[in-house]
Amino acid sequence: MWSAPGKVFLFGEHAVVYGKPGLAMAIKPRVFVTVRKARHPPKVKSPYIEHCFRELGVNGSVYIHSQLPSSSGLGSSAAVVVSTLAAINEEFDLNHDRAEIADIAFGIEKKVQEGRASPTDTYVSSFGGIVLIKGGSKRRLPPQTMHLVIGNSLVSHSTSKMVEQVSAFRKKDPLIVDPILDSIEATCTRALHCLSDPKILGRYMDINHALLDALGVGHPSLSRLVLASRAAGAYGAKITGAGGGGCMIALCPKRHKSRIAGAIEACDARAIITSIDTEGVRRENERKGPRQTGRQHHH
Ligand code: MEV
Repeated sequence: MWSAPGKVFLFGEHAVVYGKPGLAMAIKPRVFVTVRKARHPPKVKSPYIEHCFRELGVNGSVYIHSQLPSSSGLGSSAAVVVSTLAAINEEFDLNHDRAEIADIAFGIEKKVQEGRASPTDTYVSSFGGIVLIKGGSKRRLPPQTMHLVIGNSLVSHSTSKMVEQVSAFRKKDPLIVDPILDSIEATCTRALHCLSDPKILGRYMDINHALLDALGVGHPSLSRLVLASRAAGAYGAKITGAGGGGCMIALCPKRHKSRIAGAIEACDARAIITSIDTEGVRRENERKGPRQTGRQHHH
């Protein structure tokens, strides 16, 4: 059994598609995958899992337990692919290292999602911690304690649709969109200097949120969750990921985490209290099973 974490974008989603920097962090909820050798290909409907076995050229059975809601922008598909590859890698003694697993996982995400996928999710899920992405380069930053509450609006969204929408807006109105992307870049580069100062970081998150709204990737229910979190004492709050639905994050004083989670749930959304995961993909002790319990999903 192997497991891999989900992720959130702290700064720079969408702008990252245009070569601007993006800052992402691995989060505590994980996906757990058990793989066993078998003669036949896995009996699963997930194209992600099929590709994992095909790519590594072996057959096996797989059992998945996920603490991450799927299709919400928290990188659950990347966590499934990364942990499945790592489990296959061990079961069949294939000797791929972590960087190779991350690369193969990115290739699979690209294939299944047909076209645009950034390497952010698979890289963060493989290595854990805080990662700065810019152009083709990825850099791990020193870990920071951050108390986050994630709000899942439960509004379904499509990442590729949101990315296309921003691209169309940019073609039509570059005079408006380009300065917004520049300002998002500025929130990200300024944030790099104050990762340990939650008050300032929260302020930059608020600004990044307003800029994402201006880009047209907001949603009334995300705005509601952001405002409710701030009113309940968050340092700052913003959309995380593609927007148009999906999730938001609130940076919180430790003592107010559960109050902020309550404010989010009072808006008919799901709250996840979480913090940084510094480990990335790891082997689990099978007899103990998943270390935390969570919602169960079968892929
Ligand atoms: C989606 O989670 C984040 C985007 O920037 C797209 C990407 O980086 O793949 C919108």
